[in-house]
Amino acid sequence: MINPLEHPICLEYPLWQAETAWAEHVPLAMFLVSATRPKVFVELGAFRGASYCAFCQAIKFLKFETRAFAVDTWQGDDHAGKLEAGGLAELRAHHDPLYADFSRLVQSTFDDALEHFADQSIDLLHIDGFHTFEAVQHDFQTWLPKMSEKGIVLFHDTNVRERGFGVWKFWANVKEKYPHFEFLHGHGLGVLAVGGEITNELKFLFEANGNETRLIREFFYQLGSRIEAVRKFHAQESHIATLENRVKALESYEQIVRNSITMRLYRILKTDGIGGLMKKGIKKVGQDE
Ligand SMILES: C[S@@+](CC[C@H](N)C(=O)[O-])C[C@H]1O[C@@H](n2cnc3c(N)ncnc32)[C@H](O)[C@@H]1O
Repeated sequence: MINPLEHPICLEYPLWQAETAWAEHVPLAMFLVSATRPKVFVELGAFRGASYCAFCQAIKFLKFETRAFAVDTWQGDDHAGKLEAGGLAELRAHHDPLYADFSRLVQSTFDDALEHFADQSIDLLHIDGFHTFEAVQHDFQTWLPKMSEKGIVLFHDTNVRERGFGVWKFWANVKEKYPHFEFLHGHGLGVLAVGGEITNELKFLFEANGNETRLIREFFYQLGSRIEAVRKFHAQESHIATLENRVKALESYEQIVRNSITMRLYRILKTDGIGGLMKKGIKKVGQDE
């Protein structure tokens, strides 16, 4: 069974806070780095970098000699939406000073990046690109030859059944062919041992019985949900700060409108009629400003 004391990294908080559907898997990402000690880690689909930076944080913290690569066009897609302007620059500003000594953000399509990786060289691959059945099947099939004997492939969104997501369907097929474990929280995360060689550290996942499966899921859900709670809190705080700024802007706009000549003329017209307005004189109202 897993001994969490051997992998205290899974208790760390992520340094990089970004809007993501992945926050609840951060402890698992850190645990997997610790348990697999990958020589090469690749993520297909980094977007704002939440998952990728969690893997990098663990690699850095554990002082492993891992080379890490995030592959993404950073254009977004129909499921993730568009990345906001400056999103990649923000990610680089966090990523480069901390992780550039072992990690690269590779701006490319997944297909174009393939030729830059040797066959059987990747120990840990996270597939989190476009989520249709066809796309995830294509990503898996094209990157499978790149996986090493220790190869572990992660699939995000195995538990999403809407908006044309088809990872669940692909997962249902592929898991029959390899040792596997599925986490159900955080939109679902599938862990697939494609390499044939499973390290002792990971055996508990693939050999878990029903009760152990429930316990492992609960353990990582509980760790992950506190990360998600903190993320939501920060998101709310910045939302409230934005709201407060908007209210302030609105109030000062109202002030300007209230004091404008037009509104002053309108108030005189309303209380004293056209006679009052003529008496006061438009020019005089303007001078009062
Ligand atoms: C769901 S997001 C990744 C989310 C991220 N892992 C996180 O932690 O929040 C999917 C990303 O995959 C990228 N993507 C999808 N298909 C791609 C392809 N064929 N080549 C390169 N990037 C792709 C999109 O640009 C998008 O940034």
